[in-house]
Amino acid sequence: MKPLILLNFKTYKEVSGDKALVLAKKISQVSKPDYTVAIAPPLLSLKQIAQKVKIPVYSQHVDYKDYGANTGRILPAEVKALGCMGVIINHSEHRLPIAVIEKTVIACKKKKLKTVVCAQSLGVIKKVAQFKSDYIAYEPPALIGGAISITEAQPGIIVKAVDLVKKLSPRTKLLVGAGVKKAEDVGQALALGAKGVLIGSAAAKAKDPKKFLKELLI
Ligand code: G3P
Repeated sequence: MKPLILLNFKTYKEVSGDKALVLAKKISQVSKPDYTVAIAPPLLSLKQIAQKVKIPVYSQHVDYKDYGANTGRILPAEVKALGCMGVIINHSEHRLPIAVIEKTVIACKKKKLKTVVCAQSLGVIKKVAQFKSDYIAYEPPALIGGAISITEAQPGIIVKAVDLVKKLSPRTKLLVGAGVKKAEDVGQALALGAKGVLIGSAAAKAKDPKKFLKELLI
């Protein structure tokens, strides 16, 4: 299984409107056969992007609701129908109660969407591991968007997180994110046992996204 490099565009101004598609196309043109490079564009660009690029597209959020009277909700069924591969659930910038995370994972599994459940601590990893998502993404909020990578700041916790997930949900893969921006960060994450990384600002704000990705993945 190739490491997953999930580039979360968030809602940065740099990816507003049609700029998200421009970035998505540039990323999709970089060939890195040893990795699975996926993107999570702003929700309002999902349809446009999922139809135009061949790399896996993830939704930055989803609700567990199905068709019906659910004003403003993002339905797993619709996300799937747009051609998305998976979803991010409980991102640090879009937290959900534990019971809602469980319902959301169940709803996404029903639609055969890959699930990336974010967790900010070993304690939360312990709770969400029981939902057997495809991935758990460990992201300490204090390091998100910062200069120091999680791999430099918390190598010991990453190892603990890897072990914890292996023990509680052996088929779930651990990703890490926060401050990841260099090849060394990715290399270190994989060396510590993570199966991939989540990257936000460094990808969304890259001046030259192709160069960024080529240099990130060696
Ligand atoms: O989802 C990725 C994320 O929260 C990390 O953001 O900007 O630290 O790479 P960033």
